[in-house]
Order: sequence, then structure tokens, then C-alpha cells
Amino acid sequence: MADIRDNKEALKWQIEMGVDEIIGEKPVNRFLEEDLKVAKPTSNVSPSHNVNPPKPKPKPKPVEKPPQENINPLDPVTEATQLVADVRSLEDLRKAILEFPHCSFRNTSNNLVFSDGNPEAWLMILGEAPGYEEDIKGKPFVGKSGRLLDKIFSDTGISRSNSKPHDSFYITNTINWRPPGNRNPIKNEIDMFRPFVRKHIELINPKILVLTGNIACTAILNQQGITKLRGKWLNIDNLDIMPIVHPAFLLRNPTFKKNTWQDVLAIKKKLVEME
Ligand code: URA
Ligand code: URA
Repeated sequence: MADIRDNKEALKWQIEMGVDEIIGEKPVNRFLEEDLKVAKPTSNVSPSHNVNPPKPKPKPKPVEKPPQENINPLDPVTEATQLVADVRSLEDLRKAILEFPHCSFRNTSNNLVFSDGNPEAWLMILGEAPGYEEDIKGKPFVGKSGRLLDKIFSDTGISRSNSKPHDSFYITNTINWRPPGNRNPIKNEIDMFRPFVRKHIELINPKILVLTGNIACTAILNQQGITKLRGKWLNIDNLDIMPIVHPAFLLRNPTFKKNTWQDVLAIKKKLVEME
């Protein structure tokens, strides 16, 4: 049962809202035809009401909108940039990517694919985006092309599981969620991940960065044309960078293996020189 104090509160609220008279004793359901008849003036209304007809309702004031000027939704690149600004550790970076709402791939992925390998490694490898197996396991390059990449590097004595910084690598992708159907990420998808990738490189602080394929080259160099870029050293902000073709491309075009082998030997040579 309603408490009388509730009624008093309700009345007080109505007065505050500007209700200053009662115009009918019976509630009227204006959706029912029966009640509509009742609601019409004359028939059921007593003469006293006609003497003193209800004042026309004041025009409702336009509803005040919340101040929109200050609500300026951030674009994904700005939001990613702000999210990484305070990131100081790999764990923080992983959380920032998990929090970032703008990449639709997250809706169709099973796992965030963050990284693998030795975070102390002198060599960092940047791939494209996770595929089916990576999405299931939550680790980069664990499928067919990953096994090929591991094999090529292990032939020079470098592996992701080695604990020595100069004989190991750390590996991640440009995009950390699997694109549906393994499609290539488009420009604005690469753009929104660039702040995360840059922060990732800054945290690992490698001596050599290897870019595998066109997507990684787009993210870091803003360039495509991997078959021309491959095998040539670049230096950006004191970081030695080597583009190589993507291992998935090698699986389809095995004649490129010879070139990649030369590129990986050049990387090994540089690591030895740095020891
Ligand atoms: N290809 C990539 O670029 N990254 C992976 O993690 C797997 C395949
Ligand atoms: N396209 C890519 O994205 N990567 C390659 O390695 C070759 C072609």
C-alpha cells in the first residue's frame, strides 16, 4: 500500500512541476475509444466546469538539450594516442588495446593476440595480423607461416624461446585482433593501431626491427612495395630496420626463399657485430 507520505511527496513534486489545478476526477485513457468520448467536453462535464473552463495549456517549453558543444567524440587515432600516453609496461599496453573499442575485429575474435618471444631481445619482428590459429591460441605466428618464420631464423641460431637477448626475437603484429576471413586490414584500421605499435616498439626498445610484408611497412614506413623494399637497411630514430617479405608470401612463392635467406643472414650479421 502506498504510504501517505509518498502521496504528499508526489503532490509536492506536481506543484513544483507547475500543476496548479485539477481538471478531472477520473483518469482518462486517451487510447481507449470509450474514454475518448468521456474526455470530450460538454457531455459529461458539469456546468461549473464550463463556467470556469480549463485554461489553455501553456505551450511546452522546448526541451533543453544537454550542452553538446563539449561532447566531442574522439576519433579512433586520437583515442589510441591518448590511451597509450600513460602506458609504461607491456601489461599496460595489453590492457589499453583490450579497452580500445574502435576496432570491429574484436567482435569476431576469440582472443587478443598480443605478442610472443623474449621481451629483452635485440630483434623485434612485426607482422600483419593474426590468422585462425593465432586467434585460437592468443599468440602470434603459431600457424603455418609462423612455423616457416621460426625455421628460417632458427637456422641462424635465433629463436623466440632463447633467453639470450642477441640470439632471440620478440614478435608481434600490426593489428592485434584477427580480421574476419583473414582479409587485409584497410588504411584506417592500420592507422588506429599505429599508436599501439609505436608504443610496443618503444617498450621493447630493440636494436633491430624486422617488418614482414606490406602491412607492417605501411604502419611503420608509410610505404608499400615489399619486394622492392626488402633486404635494404633503413635507419629511423637510431633504430635499424629491415623489411622482408611475409612468410605467407614465401609459402605461395617459394622462389623468394633465397632472397629471404640472404636478408635473414644480413640481420644475423648485424646482431653479431652488435655483441
Ligand atoms: N601472419 C601474421 O602476419 N601474423 C600472425 O600472427 C600470423 C600470420
Ligand atoms: N604482399 C605482402 O603484403 N607481403 C609480402 O610479403 C608480399 C606481398
